[in-house]
Amino acid sequence: MTVTETKTFNLREHEIELEVSPDYLFMPNATTVLFSRCVQINPNDLVFDIGSGLAPLAIWAAKMPSSKVYGVEIVPEQCELARRNVESHNLEEKIEIFEGSFFNPIPHGLKADVIIADVSGISEGPARALGWYPSEIPTGGYDGTGVIIPLLKQAQNICTSQQDYTSRQHLCLGMKKFSKWQTKGST
Ligand SMILES: C[S@@+](CC[C@H](N)C(=O)[O-])C[C@H]1O[C@@H](n2cnc3c(N)ncnc32)[C@H](O)[C@@H]1O
Repeated sequence: MTVTETKTFNLREHEIELEVSPDYLFMPNATTVLFSRCVQINPNDLVFDIGSGLAPLAIWAAKMPSSKVYGVEIVPEQCELARRNVESHNLEEKIEIFEGSFFNPIPHGLKADVIIADVSGISEGPARALGWYPSEIPTGGYDGTGVIIPLLKQAQNICTSQQDYTSRQHLCLGMKKFSKWQTKGST
């Protein structure tokens, strides 16, 4: 059983209390806060939160005027705690947390209006050395792109035309190396 404690996070317009496990599981951080400031959610948007972690952004998105939020997380212990966090906010009707990779567990054929793609984007060395990624949590691999590039490729077929391709902000933040490409690719 993972040791947990309670922490509050200020995500745009909402103070969100979460059960977290700083030594074992991924801790929401400044990037999480920045995502909540960058992402725009319009009434009735269907939101996919890929790399949900302990569900800070899924819970935030559900408190915005979205219609439904599907979270996907690859680490089973994080899914378990994410579901507990969803329950403690009484959001079980609005958020579903799936264990799996990228879009695979999401019901086939659904298209997202907003994809929050805060997947592992830091390279293995710094991610472990700085303690941002506990040993059970996958990093972005050798150069930080190991997860996000395959996700971006898949995401093209999963978005509605009005989609908010939020991974761009993450690329900007987490992978300086790619920021030029990212800026050129932005619309
Ligand atoms: C930077 S953390 C962000 C977690 C959360 N969004 C937050 O703000 O606290 C990245 C998360 O992506 C998850 N992840 C990595 N590869 C994944 C994949 N292929 N599919 C789904 N989630 C993945 C990791 O386990 C980790 O929880």
